Amino acid sequence: MSGEARGPGFIGGGTAGYWIPLTFAAAAAMFALKPLPFRNPAAPYAQLPAWVTDTTPVRKAKDRPEYRLAVFSYKCSDCHRIIPKSPEAQHVRVQHLEIQLQHGINSRCLNCHHPDDRDAFVDDFGKEIPWNEPWRVCGKCHGTVFRDWQHGAHGRTNGFWDKSRGPQTHLRCTQCHDPHNPAFAPLQPAPGPDTLRMGRQDFGPPSTGHDPLRLRDQAPAGRNRGD
Ligand code: HEC
Ligand code: HEC
Ligand code: HEC
Ligand code: HEC
Repeated sequence: MSGEARGPGFIGGGTAGYWIPLTFAAAAAMFALKPLPFRNPAAPYAQLPAWVTDTTPVRKAKDRPEYRLAVFSYKCSDCHRIIPKSPEAQHVRVQHLEIQLQHGINSRCLNCHHPDDRDAFVDDFGKEIPWNEPWRVCGKCHGTVFRDWQHGAHGRTNGFWDKSRGPQTHLRCTQCHDPHNPAFAPLQPAPGPDTLRMGRQDFGPPSTGHDPLRLRDQAPAGRNRGD
C-alpha cells in the first residue's frame, strides 16, 4: 500500500528527486535577478494640504455682547438702555445695517434678542438667556436638532468619547451657523481616499470613462493622478 503512495516526485525516488533542489535554485536565481520587477499600482503618496486636517471652527462666534462702531466698542446696553425698543423690528433700521436677516420665516430680531436687556437673548417666557449660552436660543425652535446636538449626533464632538478619561466638548451652534444667516456655507471637499481600484475619480457619465471598478493601470492615458 505504502509503495503505491510514492509518486515519481517523492524525495529519494530516483532521478525525479533532483527537481526539488533545481526548483529552489531557479527560484533563488529569479529572486536575485528580478526578471519581473514589482510595479506598484497605487498612486504615489500625496502629501495632504494642511487645510484638510485643520480643526478650526468655520466661524468665530461673538461670545460677548459688544458692538464695534468705527474704532469704538460698546456694550449693547450702552445704547439700548436709552433707545426705546421698537415694537416690531420689521421697519427700516437706522443702525446695524450690516445685519441682513436671512433666517426664512424667522424674521423678527426680538425672536432671539431680549426686548429690554440687549445684553441677553430671550426665552419663550420673556426671561433672559445669557449671551454666552446662545444654543438655548436655537433650541427654542430647533428642538430636534438641539437634542441631536446634546447627544453628539449633530455638530462636532471633540475630546474623549470615554468621559472618564478626559473632557468632551461640543462646538456651539454659532461656531458653525451665523444666527442671522444660518445656512451652512459649502465646504471645499477634501481629496478622496487613494485606493488601488478607483484611480482618479473624475465623476461623469460612463462615456467619459468613469468607472469606479477600473484598475488604476486601465485608466485612459493622462487621467491618472500624478500624470
Ligand atoms: C451705537 C449704539 C448701539 C449699540 C452699541 C447697539 N445698538 Fe442695537 N440698535 C441701535 C439703534 C439706534 C437701533 C434702532 C434702529 C431703528 O430702530 O431703526 C438698534 C436696533 C437694534 C435691534 C432691532 C430691534 C429694535 O429694538 O429696533 C436689535 C435686535 C439690536 N439693536 C441689537 C443690538 C445688540 C445685540 C447689540 C450689541 C451686540 C446692539 N444692538 C448694540 C443702536 C445700537
Ligand atoms: C435666530 C436668532 C437671532 C435673530 C432673529 C437675530 N439675532 Fe442678532 N444675534 C443672535 C445671536 C445668537 C448673536 C450673537 C452670536 C454670534 O454672532 O456669534 C447675535 C448678535 C447680534 C449682534 C452683535 C453682533 C455683531 O455683529 O456685532 C447684533 C448687533 C444683532 N445680533 C442684531 C440683530 C438685529 C438687528 C436683528 C434683526 C434684524 C437680529 N440681530 C436678529 C441671534 C439672533
Ligand atoms: C424663533 C424661531 C427660531 C429660532 C430662535 C432659531 N431658528 Fe433657525 N430656523 C427657524 C425657521 C422657521 C427656519 C426655516 C426657515 C425657512 O426655511 O423658512 C430656520 C432655519 C434654520 C436653518 C436652516 C437654514 C437653511 O437655509 O438651510 C439653520 C441652520 C438654523 N435655522 C439655525 C439656527 C440657529 C443656529 C439658531 C440659534 C442661533 C436658530 N436657528 C434659531 C426658526 C428659528
Ligand atoms: C460643527 C458644526 C455644526 C454645529 C456645531 C451645529 N451645526 Fe447645524 N448644521 C451643520 C451642518 C454641516 C449642517 C448641514 C448643512 C447642509 O446639509 O447643507 C447643519 C444643519 C442644520 C440645520 C438644518 C438642517 C436640519 O437638520 O434641519 C439646522 C436647523 C441646524 N443645523 C441647527 C443647529 C443648531 C440649533 C445647533 C446647535 C444646537 C447646530 N446646528 C450646531 C453644522 C453644525
